[in-house]
Amino acid sequence: MQSLQPFHTFHIQVSAHKIIEVTNIEQLKQTWSEANTLHLPVLFLGQGSNMLFLEDFNGVVIINRLLGITHKEDAHFHYLHVNAGENWHQLVAWSLEQGMNGLENLALIPGCAGSAPIQNIGAYGVEFKDFCHYVDVLNLESGELFRLSSAECEFGYRESVFKQRYQHGYVITAIGLKLAKNWHPVLKYGSLVNFDPNTVTAKQIFDEVCRIRQSKLPNPDEFGNAGSFFKNPVVTAEQFAEIQKLAENVPHFPQVDGSVKLAAGWLIDQCHLKGFQIGGAAVHEKQALVLINKENATGQDVVRLAHYVRKTVAEKFGVFLQPEVRFIGANGEIESEKAIS
Ligand code: FAD
Ligand code: EPU
Repeated sequence: MQSLQPFHTFHIQVSAHKIIEVTNIEQLKQTWSEANTLHLPVLFLGQGSNMLFLEDFNGVVIINRLLGITHKEDAHFHYLHVNAGENWHQLVAWSLEQGMNGLENLALIPGCAGSAPIQNIGAYGVEFKDFCHYVDVLNLESGELFRLSSAECEFGYRESVFKQRYQHGYVITAIGLKLAKNWHPVLKYGSLVNFDPNTVTAKQIFDEVCRIRQSKLPNPDEFGNAGSFFKNPVVTAEQFAEIQKLAENVPHFPQVDGSVKLAAGWLIDQCHLKGFQIGGAAVHEKQALVLINKENATGQDVVRLAHYVRKTVAEKFGVFLQPEVRFIGANGEIESEKAIS
């Protein structure tokens, strides 16, 4: 068994039968088929920043280290082809240094570039889908490589085809990004609204996003975590009206279909759960949506805490939170909502 602790940001002490870092597609295919022959389960990992391991994993963990970036341009766009193992934040920083603007609102999101499409990463009013040109995918059974257009990825809020149809038996090998030369800053979220859209630079937005994130989100090297533990829930207009009767100034984001997105962190905070701890797992003091590994937490500590948070929020607001984080058991992914019900 090999320790998985350094390979995921919750830093829970768990092991895997075998951990293999792959640097090219042939090696990836071979590692997968060897594990298959031995009937061992396989788990793909980027930087493990959206994972909760509940116990030791009885299989082979394949860590994506496919590296390389190529750049092309025409009169209107920059086109980046980025292999899946590249670090997302370094890609954002590098693109800005090269004078290609657009990704600045997505600064400091941990993880690999190839993982970005899976939950359509998003922050500060921008999502991965806004720049996605294509995603390259390998069918592990047939060995066939194919390309999905952005539309074919069926992106939604923390959602894509990679959590549905292409979840099992497929691996993302590269992404294509399309960045407009005619850049428009996105300044609709939080303190970004204070910038003047006529004079602001992408670097200023990048710096401000990094500043806000560092002030609220725990550094995984200090307290293990996987970012927002739950998704922000979307409720009907009727449910929202009921919640407004319980509290004033409910943060909310009306959706095009009339539904309303709520802030899960605010709901948890209203239940006075900041700092609440079960075993070694705790609700982060500065951002209630983040559960942290405070003191040698086990996966089960985090599950128990998530169960308590979900139950408490449901009792107060009638809203059942769904995990954003992916739960991994001994033989692979398990249904996260069921695990905390
Ligand atoms: P992993 O956690 O390694 O994997 C995630 C899932 O994808 C797993 O199911 C894995 O099996 C699968 N997978 C990994 N690589 C591949 C591949 N190549 N092909 C197919 N499947 C694969 N997310 C946001 O959207 N917005 C944020 O603002 C944000 N902030 C965060 C802040 C912190 C401090 C942390 C710790 C996390 C945050 N996250 C955020 C979550 C996380 O950064 C993203 O989900 C990220 O895209 C995960 O990348 P990863 O490489 O670590 O993926
Ligand atoms: N809030 C509280 N108390 C808290 C936390 C939040 O009252 O403890 C309130 C805030 O004051 C604000 C609202 O809730 O009014 C939203 O909070 P915040 O701006 O911190 O964002 P969030 O909804 O908690 C989402 C994403 C983050 C992303 C940020 C910035 C989800 C699940 N989370 O968090 O993504 O970085 O917006 O855009 O959508 C992640 O997915 O892992 C992640 C960190």
